[in-house]
Amino acid sequence: MADNPALLFVCLGNICRSPLAEGAMREAAESAGLEILIDSCGTAAYHVGAPPDPRSVQTAQTHGIDISNLRGRQLCGADFHRFTHIFAMDHQNLRNIEAVRPDGAEAHVCLLMDMVPGREGAAIADPYYDGEEQFDETWEDVSAAAKAIAARLR
Ligand code: 4NP
Repeated sequence: MADNPALLFVCLGNICRSPLAEGAMREAAESAGLEILIDSCGTAAYHVGAPPDPRSVQTAQTHGIDISNLRGRQLCGADFHRFTHIFAMDHQNLRNIEAVRPDGAEAHVCLLMDMVPGREGAAIADPYYDGEEQFDETWEDVSAAAKAIAARLR
């Protein structure tokens, strides 16, 4: 990865998956003693200014991580200059991210699960319309990815 990595986690609404990914990455980075820029956002504007979904807040809390202070924002062109790595939760968001890339911006964009050996190419399922157990699965995915990223950065 780049010398000064800056990591952005992107889903659709920025209230379910990407806030969990941001929380998991903050925890993994702190455990590894890494001081890096970490943020999340959504490709859609539905939930701009909103806190994470209560089910995501609860899931993170179960793992000792407080994400209640996060607020939704939408991906913008400047993110491609501010962040070196942009991680998409699924294939639709991967396409939507690339559609926002300014000409010449070099940020590396890939699926978040590409970071986990054996899970390359996998999507993190949208838990929004599912039950709370789906959020546990989301957590398992994003925390595995966060640990894999931290290990690569160490
Ligand atoms: P997220 O989940 O992309 O993981 O934050 C969703 C949140 C909201 C909606 C869809 C997915 N929505 O349609 O409002």
